[in-house]
Parts: sequence; C-alpha cells; structure tokens
Amino acid sequence: MFSAAVKLGAGAFALANLVTAGSYKAGSTVVVNDVYYYVPSAPVSRLGVASNQIKAATTPGEDLIPLTVMRTNFSNFDETMLQGEVDKYSATDDVFNSGFLQAIYLASETSTYLNTSLTTALTSFGNRLFMTSSSNFLSASAINCSERIPIGPYFLHAYTGDVYQAWRLYSDYEGAFTEGTIAQADRNFSTLSASIAGVQSPTIGVPSRLYYTKTKSQPLAGVRLGIKDIYDIAGTKRGCGNRAYYDLYPERNTTAPVVQKLIDAGAIIVGKMKTSQFANGETATADWVDYHSPFNARGDGYSDPSSSSSGPGAGIGAYEWLDLALGSDTGGSVRNPAQVNGAYGNRPTHGLVTLDNVMPLSPLMDTPGFLTRDATLWKTAGEVLYSGNLTDFSSFPKSIYTSGFPTNASNEAEGVLLDFLAKLEAFLNTTEPTSELDYDSMWTASEQAVVENTTTLTELLQYTYGTLISKQQYNIFGIPFISDYQAAYTGRTPFLDPSPLVRWNWARYNLTEQDLESGIHNKTVFTDWWNSEVIRNVPGSCSDSLLLYPGTLATPNYRNLYRDPPGLPLWWGVSSIGPIAGVPDVVFPLGQASYNSTITMHEEVLPVAVDIIAAPGCDAMLFELAEQLQKAGIINSPKAGSRMYRR
Ligand SMILES: *[C@@H]1O[C@H](CO)[C@@H](O)[C@H](O)[C@H]1NC(C)=O
Ligand SMILES: *[C@@H]1O[C@H](CO)[C@@H](O)[C@H](O)[C@H]1NC(C)=O
Ligand SMILES: *[C@@H]1O[C@H](CO)[C@@H](O)[C@H](O)[C@H]1NC(C)=O
Ligand SMILES: *[C@@H]1O[C@H](CO)[C@@H](O)[C@H](O)[C@H]1NC(C)=O
Ligand SMILES: *[C@@H]1O[C@H](CO)[C@@H](O)[C@H](O)[C@H]1NC(C)=O
Ligand SMILES: *[C@@H]1O[C@H](CO)[C@@H](O)[C@H](O)[C@H]1NC(C)=O
Ligand SMILES: *[C@@H]1O[C@H](CO)[C@@H](O)[C@H](O)[C@H]1NC(C)=O
Ligand SMILES: *[C@@H]1O[C@H](CO)[C@@H](O)[C@H](O)[C@H]1NC(C)=O
Ligand SMILES: *[C@@H]1O[C@H](CO)[C@@H](O)[C@H](O)[C@H]1NC(C)=O
Ligand SMILES: *[C@@H]1O[C@H](CO)[C@@H](O)[C@H](O)[C@H]1NC(C)=O
Ligand SMILES: *[C@@H]1O[C@H](CO)[C@@H](O)[C@H](O)[C@H]1NC(C)=O
Ligand SMILES: *[C@@H]1O[C@H](CO)[C@@H](O)[C@H](O)[C@H]1NC(C)=O
Repeated sequence: MFSAAVKLGAGAFALANLVTAGSYKAGSTVVVNDVYYYVPSAPVSRLGVASNQIKAATTPGEDLIPLTVMRTNFSNFDETMLQGEVDKYSATDDVFNSGFLQAIYLASETSTYLNTSLTTALTSFGNRLFMTSSSNFLSASAINCSERIPIGPYFLHAYTGDVYQAWRLYSDYEGAFTEGTIAQADRNFSTLSASIAGVQSPTIGVPSRLYYTKTKSQPLAGVRLGIKDIYDIAGTKRGCGNRAYYDLYPERNTTAPVVQKLIDAGAIIVGKMKTSQFANGETATADWVDYHSPFNARGDGYSDPSSSSSGPGAGIGAYEWLDLALGSDTGGSVRNPAQVNGAYGNRPTHGLVTLDNVMPLSPLMDTPGFLTRDATLWKTAGEVLYSGNLTDFSSFPKSIYTSGFPTNASNEAEGVLLDFLAKLEAFLNTTEPTSELDYDSMWTASEQAVVENTTTLTELLQYTYGTLISKQQYNIFGIPFISDYQAAYTGRTPFLDPSPLVRWNWARYNLTEQDLESGIHNKTVFTDWWNSEVIRNVPGSCSDSLLLYPGTLATPNYRNLYRDPPGLPLWWGVSSIGPIAGVPDVVFPLGQASYNSTITMHEEVLPVAVDIIAAPGCDAMLFELAEQLQKAGIINSPKAGSRMYRR
C-alpha cells in the first residue's frame, strides 16, 4: 500500500526524500466487491476537491476510495440516466463493478440540473461521495471539481485528491504469459507487481475499456495486447523461452519498432507471452524443458497449443479479456497456434515491416503476425502494422484453388470445411469451378525443373526450410549467445531444450556455408516460379486466385503422450509455401466439431479452420475478406474458452 511518507503531508519532506532515494511505490492492490485491482503508482489526474471533504466521506485509515467518473450533457440528470450509465458501463467493461459507485464524479460541459430523484439511487448504490462539475447542484454533498478525466472506474486518494486508474487483475491460469507488464511514465515498461490466486500462474492486469476512445490516429486505443517474448520491450527482459538467456542479458533499452507502432496506435501491452524455445517447434509436453507449455483451452483443455507462438494462441483461445496478441511466423508459428486455439491468425507477406530488436530464426522467412478472435480488430491491427506496404485492391479474386480438400464430407469437421467453401464460392461469385491445385505436376512440367535438374518440389525443397532456420539462427543468434554465456560463466555451455539443440548442433557440425547458399538458391528459384507461374499479382483483385487448404479438422493432439525425441524439420508441404515464397497465408476459424475425449470421457468440441494463400502484398485484401465474411455471418467471431460457439 502507500508508504507512510505520503500520508504525513507537508511536515515530512526529509523523510519523503529518503524514501525516493532508496525505494519507490510499485503500485498497490485493492479489492472491490471481491474483485482484485492493481492501482498504478502514478496518478492520472487530481480532482480539485478539498481534502477535508473527501476525508469526511472516508473511514479512518482508508486511503483509496473506488470512484466512477461519468460524463453527461443532459440538462436534467436523474435516476434513470444514472442507472442507464451504470448499465452501459457494466455491459461494456469488465473492470467496472458497482463497488466503484461509492464515489462518483459527474462531469458535464453544459449546465446540468441534478434531479432530486438521484438521492435515492445514490443511496442504493452505496454512494458516499458525489462530486460534480456542474454549478447548479444544490445538495450539501456536491463538491466543485472541474477536471476532465475519461469516464470509467478509478481510485481516489483520500488525502491528496489524486485519481488513479483501476486495472483489473486476472489469473493467467492457462499459463499463456511469462509476466504481466505495465507502462511507466517514461514509456519504459515494468513487470506488474501484483499477484492473485490461480494455479501457479502469473497475474495480468487490464485497464478499464471505458478510458479509451478509438480515433483515426489511435485506431487501437485501449486494445489489450499480449506480446510474444521474442520482441524487445524497453525496461523488461527478453527471455525467448530459455532460462539461461533470460538470466544472462539485462533489461532491454529499446522497444522493437513493430511493437512501438502498435503502442503509438493506442494498444495497451498487458503482458509478455510464452514462446517455445527460440521460436523453434516444440511439442507439448516433453520438449518444453525450460518452461511448461501453455494450455489450449479448447475442447478438454489437454490438446497441444502448438508452437512457437504458443502463449499468444493459448491466451487468445482462453481469455475474453485479451483482445489481440502479436506472435511471429517463420514456418507456421502464428498459423498453427491460430488453427488449434480457434483464432484468426496471419503470416503476412515477408518484409512488410522491419524486425529490428526481435529475436531472429531465419530473417529470410521471419514475419510478425497477429492472433485474435475478431476480424475487424485483425484488419485494423494489420493496417497499423503493415501500413505503407499494403497493396491496394478494388475487388476480391473470383477463382479458388484447394489443396488437400476432401471431396465429400466423411465427418462433422469436413462438413464445416466444405460448407464454408460453398459459401465462399457464392460470396465471391466465382466464375469457374473450384479445383485442386496440382502444383507438384506444374513444377515437374516447368522449365525451371529442367534448369534445376529437379523433377519434384520435394527434391528441391525438403531441406530448404530446415537448413535456413538452423544455419541462420545458429550463425546470427546462437553463436553470440553461447559465447556471451561462456564469457560470463567461465566457459560453461548454456542449457538448450532438445528441439533447438538438435537444430543448432546440425548447423554447427553438419551444415556448411555452401548448404546455406544452396538453401537460399532453392528458395529464390521457388519464389520466382510460384509468383510468376502459380498464384500471380493482378490489378484489381491483387491476387488472381485464392489457394485454400485445411488448417485443422478438430483432431485432438494430446499433450500427455510420450513421443519420439524431436528431429530436424526436414519437410515440404502446402504450409511451406508462405515461408518459402514469402506470400501471405492466413487462418480463418470456421467452426467446431465433436470428438470423444480420452481425458474427460465425454464428447467435446475442437476448432475447424481453413488456411488461405494469396499473391505477395495482398494482405489487405485478405483482411477485408475476413471482415466481410464475418459481417455476412459466413464466419462467426469465436468466443474464448472450451467452446468457440455455444449452442
Ligand atoms: C457536451 O457538449 C459540449 C458543448 O456543447 C460538446 O463540446 C461535447 O462534445 C459534449 N460532450 C458529450 C460527451 O456529448
Ligand atoms: C426529475 O425527474 C423526473 C423523472 O425522473 C421528472 O418527472 C421530474 O420532473 C424531474 N424534476 C425536475 C425538477 O426536473
Ligand atoms: C470550482 O473550482 C475551480 C478550481 O478549483 C474554481 O476556479 C471555480 O471558481 C470553482 N467554482 C465554484 C462554483 O466554486
Ligand atoms: C527508459 O529508461 C531509460 C533508463 O532509465 C531511459 O534512459 C529511457 O529514456 C527510458 N525510456 C525509454 C523509452 O527507453
Ligand atoms: C542499448 O543496449 C544495446 C545492447 O545491449 C547497447 O548496444 C546500446 O548501446 C544500448 N543503448 C543505450 C542508449 O543505452
Ligand atoms: C516497407 O517494407 C520495406 C521493405 O521491407 C521496409 O524497408 C519499409 O520500412 C516498409 N515500410 C513501412 C512503412 O513500414
Ligand atoms: C461425393 O459427392 C458427389 C455429389 O455430391 C457424389 O456424386 C459422389 O459420388 C460422392 N463421392 C463419394 C466418394 O462419396
Ligand atoms: C456477387 O454477386 C452479387 C449479385 O450480383 C453482388 O451483389 C455481390 O456484390 C457480388 N459479390 C462480390 C464479392 O463480387
Ligand atoms: C541430373 O540429376 C541426375 C540425378 O537426379 C543426375 O544423374 C544427373 O547427372 C544430373 N544432370 C546434370 C546435368 O547435373
Ligand atoms: C536444393 O535443391 C537441390 C536439388 O535441386 C537439392 O539437391 C539440395 O539438397 C537443395 N538444398 C537445400 C538446402 O534445400
Ligand atoms: C552430422 O554429422 C555426423 C558426423 O559428422 C553424423 O554422425 C550425423 O549423422 C550427422 N547428422 C545429420 C543429421 O546429418
Ligand atoms: C463418441 O462415442 C459415442 C459412443 O461410442 C458415439 O456414439 C459417438 O458417435 C462418438 N462421437 C464422436 C464425435 O466420435
């Protein structure tokens, strides 16, 4: 709670100085109607109220009074209007509760007559302090104050009249976060110094939604954002999923430009989210040695949340109080968690935005992508992050290809997938029948295949992804990390989880610089061929077609199984097209389908999702498509929790 020095007032200057020299307030916690709140250390405003007037309304020793700020322009403010405001706050904000009506500050820019019917209402709300900026209020408890503060729940300091924001505390019971964060006045962040009960999990704080108004320059105002712990956030440590790495380096002194863009657009960073180690593929549970894999809330709660943006996926799947998460996708790290945690997720066109101050896996394929449950928010966040590099479009493609689609639905999940395809065809007014895209045969028949003396795409590409990520991450990131660690710990080697260890050892002992060159060559060959021969940029619709493939079909991937040790990622398939050709690949959540859980011995539901690939730079078209499909009711915005859709 607040230090004694603060309470002593004018006579205690020497003591106050001593306190600032050696200690400072890191915020406090307050319980209102059994809900825990964090009160940041710095006030956002001060009401021009005589402190004796506040003190008269408080009990001895009480320093923070829950306060609600309201705004009105009515000439006659009565009981019904007060109830209307309370109902509106309760419906739109999870931070507000009726306990904040103990003190009310009613601000009005017009002259407001306060109807005497208010008195009864205020009593029923347990109000003990009513303040207004209106000069017409005749009641004895009215206090003159004229500060302009956004509406919402706050805490009022009984001795100073300072007003503090209220951050509701939530338990991260699915283990999606590494820590809660809060912005300081100097734009650095610090770890949230609050903890509530909840299965050995961090505590995350979120500010009231009522404080924020979205504007043209702040289209993300108040959006609660979690950040995968591979992005630098000034004032906090970056862990990258490795304990030795977390310990070795100090707090970051810069915020990564991609994160700063979101902050500048008004997003509120509420915490840092778990990544599998160094963003390598890890399967729950045994691969996660340094940290425990987050839990996937869908279905029985014991399916793998996938990796490497596991925390962002798990958090968006589980928590209604979290709006948006920033992950990263090199080989599926946004798309796979989006699929299985039931969210929208995008791997953007490669190179839309700088990745300075972000841990690299393979700079040739690394991309920053979002996970969210709402298509409109997804589009807005995409416009903020990729602005300046999004290609204009005036219509949607009218041609659809599929890869790996069932022809007939043999189960509920395939039914959801095919039902979506039919609705998409109708929505787009496709001009020709949808067909399976046999890009393997197209390659075999191509001139490039002759030039490369490579009959199949598998020959060309099965080593490409694994070579690029292993060699590039080891060279750029692994070598300096290991050498910094050895310098700090007299030659000792840091611990590595089995998955990154296999890859880094392969890079170290087996891969040559020529192998890396060969991988870059093969990637370039494929990129040029794919973008000129398969799915092309065209004026108008940006992409001449869309390529759909099944994202997930409600198949459980249990985390309580013992598996083989992790091997090298030597594969090639439809999901490698995005990384290797640098093109966008987005995940749309479509629905859910039943399975019999071996955990609950009960029928549960898991997500069904589709992936859509388009030509490079066509990200804006894909975001728009998602939003329009959601508005048309063809896709329904999923809810957080075990079921995406309640029946
Ligand atoms: C209240 O009225 C003032 C002056 O007419 C106007 O500028 C302001 O936007 C109004 N505020 C609200 C919340 O409607
Ligand atoms: C007070 O509000 C009630 C409706 O809630 C209205 O009937 C009454 O006229 C108002 N009183 C004055 C003095 O405006
Ligand atoms: C209200 O307070 C402000 C600032 O403290 C002061 O300037 C103003 O005169 C006061 N108004 C009334 C009606 O007391
Ligand atoms: C963060 O803190 C450092 C050191 O205290 C300071 O130099 C810097 O200006 C602060 N702000 C940002 C945005 O880094
Ligand atoms: C920030 O940290 C980096 C990496 O430790 C260092 O190279 C750089 O000098 C620091 N910058 C400032 C302004 O302290
Ligand atoms: C657009 O992409 C280029 C190439 O990656 C990058 O250098 C530039 O900063 C991007 N523009 C914006 C506005 O982010
Ligand atoms: C699939 O459905 C089509 C028509 O909907 C039907 O003609 C065809 O026989 C079905 N194929 C299989 C394998 O069931
Ligand atoms: C499809 O056709 C209908 C009817 O002509 C039209 O209203 C709609 O805008 C078209 N949709 C698209 C995406 O072009
Ligand atoms: C083409 O590849 C085959 C084996 O895949 C090899 O036998 C042949 O020598 C290669 N040709 C050239 C010109 O490299
Ligand atoms: C590049 O492609 C050739 C076949 O053209 C293949 O032999 C080689 O292994 C590939 N290298 C990598 C790193 O993908
Ligand atoms: C790496 O090289 C070693 C010996 O040089 C060999 O035993 C091992 O099988 C190789 N590993 C891979 C994955 O190629
Ligand atoms: C679950 O098991 C029951 C009983 O065996 C069966 O009737 C039902 O079809 C199964 N549900 C699914 C989705 O497989």
